[in-house]
Amino acid sequence: MKFGYFDDSAREYVITRPDTPLPWINYLGCEAYFGLISNTAGGYSFYKDARLRRLTRYRYNNAPLDMGGRYLYLRDNANGKYWSPTWMPTRGTLDEYECRHGQGYTIITSKSNGIKSSIRYFVPLGESLEIWQATLTNERDSDTDLSLFSAIEFCLWDANDDATNFQRNYSIGQVEIAPLAPNGRGAGGEGLTVIYHKTEYRERRDHFAYFACSEQLTGFDTIREDFLGAYRGWHEPQVVERGQSVNTEAHGWQPIGSHHVKVQLKAGEQKQIIFVLGYHENSKDEKFDPPDSQLLNKKTVKPIIEKYLKPEHADKAFDELRDYWTMLLGKLQVITPDEHTNRMVNIWNAYQCMVTFNMSRSASYFESGIGRGMGFRDSNQDLLGFVHMIPERARERILDIAATQLKNGGAFHQYQPLTKRGNNDIGSGFNDDPLWLVLGVAAYIKESGDWSILDEQVQYENEQGSESQLYEHLQRSLQYTLDRLGPNKLPLIGRADWNDCLNLNCFSDTPGQSFQTTTNKDGKVAESVFIAGLFILACQEMAGIAEHYHDQAEVNKVRKAAADMEETVWEAGWDDDWFRRAYDDYGHPLGSKENTEGKIFIEPQGICVMAGLGVENGNAVKALDSVAEHLATPHGIVLQQPAFSKYYLHLGEISSYPPGYKENAGIFCHNNPWVMIAETVVRRGDKAFDYFKRINPSAREEISELHKCEPYVYAQMIAGKDAATHGEAKNSWLTGTAAWNYVAITQYILGIRPAFDGLEVKPVLPSGWDSFEAVRNFQGVRYEISVKREGAGNKVTLEVDDRSIEGTVIPRPKDGIKTVKVKAVIRS
Ligand code: GLC
Ligand code: GLC
Repeated sequence: MKFGYFDDSAREYVITRPDTPLPWINYLGCEAYFGLISNTAGGYSFYKDARLRRLTRYRYNNAPLDMGGRYLYLRDNANGKYWSPTWMPTRGTLDEYECRHGQGYTIITSKSNGIKSSIRYFVPLGESLEIWQATLTNERDSDTDLSLFSAIEFCLWDANDDATNFQRNYSIGQVEIAPLAPNGRGAGGEGLTVIYHKTEYRERRDHFAYFACSEQLTGFDTIREDFLGAYRGWHEPQVVERGQSVNTEAHGWQPIGSHHVKVQLKAGEQKQIIFVLGYHENSKDEKFDPPDSQLLNKKTVKPIIEKYLKPEHADKAFDELRDYWTMLLGKLQVITPDEHTNRMVNIWNAYQCMVTFNMSRSASYFESGIGRGMGFRDSNQDLLGFVHMIPERARERILDIAATQLKNGGAFHQYQPLTKRGNNDIGSGFNDDPLWLVLGVAAYIKESGDWSILDEQVQYENEQGSESQLYEHLQRSLQYTLDRLGPNKLPLIGRADWNDCLNLNCFSDTPGQSFQTTTNKDGKVAESVFIAGLFILACQEMAGIAEHYHDQAEVNKVRKAAADMEETVWEAGWDDDWFRRAYDDYGHPLGSKENTEGKIFIEPQGICVMAGLGVENGNAVKALDSVAEHLATPHGIVLQQPAFSKYYLHLGEISSYPPGYKENAGIFCHNNPWVMIAETVVRRGDKAFDYFKRINPSAREEISELHKCEPYVYAQMIAGKDAATHGEAKNSWLTGTAAWNYVAITQYILGIRPAFDGLEVKPVLPSGWDSFEAVRNFQGVRYEISVKREGAGNKVTLEVDDRSIEGTVIPRPKDGIKTVKVKAVIRS
């Protein structure tokens, strides 16, 4: 069953009924000011950091679902009937409803009581504010007298404190209500009125929020209790019911922002009303105006508010946003025989990569925005799918991440986006972490050709004076693994490797203890085959980097290290038909036929074959056939089998989940693309594409009632075959799945991938595909690529501007050449 459809030409997903299985959300903003918005206008906004600069409140895990948002109420003053044009929170019957999610904007249109309303929400580029453009049309054949009420609930900035520290917070809320124009007369009078939220501004904050409306107000409210009425919810505010605001000014308790506007519309008449919600900072010595008062200095914010309350400026900002996305998405556009591939590559997957790059794992409908900082491992992977869009931002991110690296080459597992410092609470010891930096830097250099990044002086642990070249950071990353080898000479796992829940040194028997930060064993035994595979992959990238860096000693060193590690994997990490996963603290293998549960895991099969292991001796195919036999399901590939039926003290969190969920044999979508890539390494395009299709959200749209999450973005997990709800997705949006699927489809199946020496074109296509076309903007050159199949196999020959070239890497064109035509022919 579907709850909407893709409008590919508009680059939108159109939701056609409000009661989707879960709120289907979108993101506003792509720079500093961000919002989450659901298909019924739920969600919240924040500036840079979802925890520390939260503008509006949202109630996670609430009943009803999705409470708190950007709400409007329409009231027919003739009979007192009122409704929410976005369905929530009143949930009345709407005669028409449609929600269009696009890149950085959402438009919710509905009709009720003969009044059509369309609200467009977006964040202009370069601004720290959001615009709600509401267009009301009277489709009745008589005149109408309406009231329009807006409503948001302010958060007292620190979202965690806001949700817990009530004894203080109920007393600190402060607002200011003031005319916009200097000569305005405030509420009820001429001129426009702005609601300012300034809790804690009187002391150490120099930022505030504002909420403005383009119309003269009939009234306003800032006290939640007075707006809603005692013991009432957002679905039946007393003020809306009565049709009149009470002009309240909040002191403590729960400050809100609500405007009341009267709208008289003749039959057929249309009117646009704009709301602007924003964030603003003043310099510390110009906080107040007059200086000796406690009043906000509004001098610098007023022109901004005034500007965006005007439709022409709002429209222009919207057009700029659309153009910006046309430019970003234009970096790679494809026409293939498969519509799901086309729309994921051309629109949604790329878009999701931007969102994961911006948000890391902080704010979604499954991540509360207060819990997690930016992951060292996660951010390096996120940039694999993002780097082609804005390489400069990827560069900046790499330098930020690298500056949190420990001197011993290790990494803080997370860092805080506001301070850009490592998070001490979680600490380090996730032994795979530093290796991802090598992959991230390699991806950046291949995309940008900017080798200068290696010479950047970057601190360790953000300590002044500790700087070294970024190049040395990479060396230390690799050395970190070599310094931590276990009894089998495989890398020690530490707290965990990529699988945060495989906690082989934790041994926790205390409820509530964190599996990630508790370590009860000294960690000198448990080893990871996954890290071994990742290490070999990272060594290959490092060899490529070092070669260009004219450091032959390093090239030799990492090649030797990779070869030794490979030998170790064959000695201790191979289990006849597949790669083992790890060795536990007792020195027993995991992911082996010797185990009764957890006999085979997906991660080492993917990563080891990606690193080329077993391609020559046939073991790669064996391992992948084992994946197909033991792990593949129609909904994707599960993480391991058999699922753990009980809690194992020596395995940790992985066995804490009920079978089929999350890391305990769920379909953890993040690692499925590793197997897709591995299948292309052994040149099996049909298998690679088949796996791609199984978890592709667009291809799952028809089963939305089962899948439950948004059909336009990947979710972290789909319940595995041991689960009662096999096929049900959870944790959409913020997952490494986005970047890795983008890499798998674009760079390995379609085969268009940046290399150190130019753009490589080397597709491994499904046998049923005769051709596809692509345009790739790469280092300032437009590559027009057409691929044709002339035979059954995978052999690729290239013609570049009508001349055949050797191999599959297109050398850089001469200066001044802006377009290159590439013809690829596939034969057996
Ligand atoms: C989550 C984490 C990621 C980890 C994965 C597997 O997606 O963000 O860092 O690798 O889970 O545990
Ligand atoms: C991890 C991952 C998740 C895991 C959780 C455990 O980092 O996000 O998959 O279940 O944290 O706390």
